[in-house]
Amino acid sequence: MAGRRSPARAAGTKARRTGAAVPPDAVKVRRAKPDDFAAVVGIDARVTGLAKPAYWQDVFRRYGRGAAAGRQFLVAEAGGKVAGFVIGEVRDWEFGSPPCGWVFGIDVDPDRRQDGIGSRLFEEIGRGFRQAGVTVIRTMLSRDNALVLSFFRSHGMMAAPFIPLEIELA
Ligand SMILES: CC(C)(COP(=O)(O)OP(=O)(O)OC[C@H]1O[C@@H](n2cnc3c(N)ncnc32)[C@H](O)[C@@H]1OP(=O)(O)O)[C@@H](O)C(=O)NCCC(=O)NCCS
Repeated sequence: MAGRRSPARAAGTKARRTGAAVPPDAVKVRRAKPDDFAAVVGIDARVTGLAKPAYWQDVFRRYGRGAAAGRQFLVAEAGGKVAGFVIGEVRDWEFGSPPCGWVFGIDVDPDRRQDGIGSRLFEEIGRGFRQAGVTVIRTMLSRDNALVLSFFRSHGMMAAPFIPLEIELA
């Protein structure tokens, strides 16, 4: 799939914006560590309107330091504070698909947006996926979330050849 894409649509090749974008060295993207817990829960609560500490404890346990190979939980640190995070994982042969990198979640502090931080996170997780040997990134988003759709489209992501299905259990 990725081999058929034009170079401009390959993950991580979006031309950096000029002007207000944060200089790359002003933002450090690194693996999440236990000290980041409160900041991550806080950003997620601001974005979604719901604090979910138990969920995040589980994410830190499974995707934080010492996580299984292929799992990534990265934070962007700007001005000494966590300004955003991204979580993803290489999944092998699920849905009949060769191994690919799934991005499960990406959030940037609402006060730090449109400054290139989300792009830095996406580029770094893409780098990690490439190092893990995969050449395709997938994600899923709510069809109402025009902001996230615009963000992923800006990084060259296109509709995938899969259809999500669901049913409400009685
Ligand atoms: C999507 C999100 C991660 C983008 O982070 P960001 O740091 O603001 O993104 P960037 O500054 O790197 O922007 C990259 C591109 O995304 C698009 N984009 C970003 N903000 C946008 C906006 N408000 N409207 C339209 N497009 C936008 C643009 O194409 C932008 O490129 P450009 O500035 O050259 O036009 C951030 O807005 C966010 O956390 N949103 C909420 C996420 C969410 O709902 N998460 C739950 C489901 S995973």
